[in-house]
Amino acid sequence: MTQDELKQQAALRALDYVVEGAIVGVGTGSTANFFIDGLAAMKDRIAGAVASSEASARRLAGHGIRLLDLNDVDHMPVYVDGADEIDASLAMIKGGGGALTREKIVAAVAGRFVCICDATKKVDCLGRFPLPVEVIPMARAQVTRELARLGGRPVLREGFVTDNGNLILDVHGLQIHDPSRLETAIDGIVGVVTNGLFARRGADVLLLATADGVVVYERT
Ligand code: 5RP
Repeated sequence: MTQDELKQQAALRALDYVVEGAIVGVGTGSTANFFIDGLAAMKDRIAGAVASSEASARRLAGHGIRLLDLNDVDHMPVYVDGADEIDASLAMIKGGGGALTREKIVAAVAGRFVCICDATKKVDCLGRFPLPVEVIPMARAQVTRELARLGGRPVLREGFVTDNGNLILDVHGLQIHDPSRLETAIDGIVGVVTNGLFARRGADVLLLATADGVVVYERT
């Protein structure tokens, strides 16, 4: 089975977690795109969707799925999104697509975070995937120095601007043994908007697609 087929399997399984009549939060990326395509078949049974990026909003709208502004939503039962890496505690690195800030905001409003991944994303220790950090443009050089002090090697994502008009520094060379602590430390750097560690609010459910089927992990 190809990686895309595995992503699609995980994404379609997540439809079982969508609450009928309710609003669903929708992530960004190729796995989330499979989820959006699957959601189209049940668009008349949900109240609508909140998108975590302009790209996902366009795809949802293309399927005729009703889009809501997060500011008009107090609560949604479920947020569904992919990840770049996920560990046994269901802490994640996200932001490979650069949508980390909106993803973290939409996830914060949701009751449950359902993560959809192919098996390659499950790791023992986070950090092989470079950690994305969204940065206010005028703070780029200062944040780069501070991230280097934390032991990483920040690299500017060339030619990329986030939906919020900011830059991404991808931090290489981190071995993240305490994801919550590092998430807090990076958020404390002046000029950082968000970092791609989702540990303080990790996933509640992981649907991991393997060659033997989708394995379900629940946060304990
Ligand atoms: C986008 C993300 C994605 O969820 C992450 O990059 C995984 O992407 P894909 O599903 O394409 O492998 O965080 O900002």
